[in-house]
Amino acid sequence: MTQYTGRPLNRVDGVDKVTGKANYAAEFDVQGLLYGYIVNSTITKGKIRQIHTDDARRVEGIVSIFTHENRPKLAWFDLSYKDQDAPPGSPFRPLRDAQIQFNGQPIALVVAETFELARYAATLIRVDYEQETHQTDLQANRHKARKPAVGMATLFKPPPPDPRGNFEEAFRNAPVQVASEYVHGSEHHNPMELFASTVVYEKGRYKSGERYTIYDKTQGVTNSILYVSQVFNIPFKDIRVISPYVGGGFGSALRPQHQLFLAVLAARELKRSVRVTLTRQQMFTLGYRPATVQTVALGASSDGTMTAMYHDGVAVTSQFEDYTEVVTTWGGLLYPAEHVKFDQKIISLDVATPMDMRAPGGVTGVTALECAVDELAYKLGMDPLELRLRNYTERNMNNDLTYSSKELRECFRRGAERFGWAKRNPEPRSMRKEHTLVGWGMATGIWDAFHAPARAEAVLMVNGKLRVSSATADIGTGTYTIMTQIAADTLGIPMEDVLFKLGDTDLPVAPIAGGSWTAATVGSAVKAACEAVGEKLFKLARKLPNSPFAKVRFSDVLFAEKAIRLKKDPAIAIPLQTLIDANGGAAVRAISTSVPNLLKQRKYARNTHSAVFVEVEVDEDFGTVRVTRAVTSVAAGRILNPKTARSQIIGGMVWGISKALEEESVMDHQFGRIMNHSLAEYHVPVNADIHELDVIFVEEHDDIVNPLGVKGVGEIGIVGMPAAIANAVFHATGIRVRTLPITLDKLL
Ligand code: MOS
Repeated sequence: MTQYTGRPLNRVDGVDKVTGKANYAAEFDVQGLLYGYIVNSTITKGKIRQIHTDDARRVEGIVSIFTHENRPKLAWFDLSYKDQDAPPGSPFRPLRDAQIQFNGQPIALVVAETFELARYAATLIRVDYEQETHQTDLQANRHKARKPAVGMATLFKPPPPDPRGNFEEAFRNAPVQVASEYVHGSEHHNPMELFASTVVYEKGRYKSGERYTIYDKTQGVTNSILYVSQVFNIPFKDIRVISPYVGGGFGSALRPQHQLFLAVLAARELKRSVRVTLTRQQMFTLGYRPATVQTVALGASSDGTMTAMYHDGVAVTSQFEDYTEVVTTWGGLLYPAEHVKFDQKIISLDVATPMDMRAPGGVTGVTALECAVDELAYKLGMDPLELRLRNYTERNMNNDLTYSSKELRECFRRGAERFGWAKRNPEPRSMRKEHTLVGWGMATGIWDAFHAPARAEAVLMVNGKLRVSSATADIGTGTYTIMTQIAADTLGIPMEDVLFKLGDTDLPVAPIAGGSWTAATVGSAVKAACEAVGEKLFKLARKLPNSPFAKVRFSDVLFAEKAIRLKKDPAIAIPLQTLIDANGGAAVRAISTSVPNLLKQRKYARNTHSAVFVEVEVDEDFGTVRVTRAVTSVAAGRILNPKTARSQIIGGMVWGISKALEEESVMDHQFGRIMNHSLAEYHVPVNADIHELDVIFVEEHDDIVNPLGVKGVGEIGIVGMPAAIANAVFHATGIRVRTLPITLDKLL
């Protein structure tokens, strides 16, 4: 019998994507469309004294210019609205008033007949500012570090736990100690697809007399519709948000962005369809992974038993929201030290609010932690892998719960074997290849296995095809494909007869696609909806004359090869088409809500793990670093599709290389502005930077995490990578670089 889950299948949306059939938010054809171009503030803090738009207005083809002076009175200015991924505080409100809170803040929207005209006219706008001194530098403002506002704990960000034992004393008495500071710059997401919203305006017999169909770049159409409805006080029924494809998100599209607000505002005022697209440079005015300074201190006995652990982190946020990059919790999940202390702080600066970026908090925190563990291994004169095995824990020490499953030990074993770790000479600068120093490093990775509530619908149509839907997103992760696999297997229907739809608020509700939870969350809902259809089919089967199913229970049947079958004798079967016919020729449909079984889940710690092994070559003369080889072994529950899952891990590993060696949003604090705001200067890896990447999945059987036993793979691939690279660089050169990215100047 055909079983799709677990097989390395191609993406069902692959052909549409590579042939240009897949439409993104700025690519939908709309009649009579107007184009909006955003004008950004050129100062960082202060006030707009006057904004001169006359020259711009005189350009032929300019339809309107919106600023804080002429903006319509909107509903949200009285509401403390929060989106699905909003930290404590008040979300940024474009064009609200004359105040400037960060550099690049949108201060006007020029609307014209073409994008080029709007962009040109925007250059004619002159602004008089009343400038105030700003603060954008984390290091210069360390004294302002403070605890985040209460409410920082969202699903993505559990706050650090209270101290356990007595860290100070245990550290003082530890025969072997390390304590280091790790610095990490900020990074912008840079998805390939630019931010865009196309708002189609129609008048008609709608509740409000108008209807808005919005093509939005978003990781959650539900989040966008809630935002538009509440901010503009437009009835839900008169809005539809559509987003069938997302050209990368990585967290940047979890929150409704400026272009959505401005496009809806313009469409509503002008009663026309409007598209607003951000340029690559303007993407650097949105959220980002914040700059962070961390201190990690570890104390161990001479046999390597870790006794004391301290992790302190301070990260940047804006003046209006307490985004908290929780970097300090991970040590308690990975190591069983008895005396621990974690401290998580933020500093409000005159910048845009940071945002979740792939494994938010996790990758930055684990990088510092896993570099410190490497430092400890050298102080102990112990192999870094052996040190980790000596301090292996089966429990999450932060909440004192056993892991629902944890095959990290097997990840270490298989990863080390594949890499050839046993052949490593522990001495720094001991391995070389001509003029390059060779280094081998390793690290552990960890991420959460979340599961959220979601709804899905399954319809077995009269022609025997199955249509399944949920308002989730496929941010490139393979959602379309794995949902199709799950549905096909649950009802025994060939994949080519299954159509999965997503990215539309007319479909059953699902949360934002983030936190690596979509496979578990939407997958469970899809499974439940298909099972509900299965139960209806079972009832139909029982009622047929002389039915072989008359006296059996639902648990006694299975669905395979387009038929309902007896589990103990699959040859006893009724074709699905017979059951549809028995349904009076009507489709068989069901909508299901899948809710996490919290009573079961809360007794366990639920995480994914990885072991990362990396080889680098460092040019002795130039200080350039190449990651020549990397192996990541991942334990993330059941793998639904090893091909799409591997792509996720590879993508994470590539980003790990980027984060370790290349990527940084560089701000000139004199101006408070990101200076390398283009792909020419914001370095990300190109093909020539990427060499051998190897992925191993160590499958886990897990009945606790969710009905599918999947844990999600979107984020775990990046987590251990930067630390493994930094540790390999140390092994190659004997130089411990604690400020990422490790650029050549730091090695000369
Ligand atoms: Mo992810 S940062 O939750 O898109």
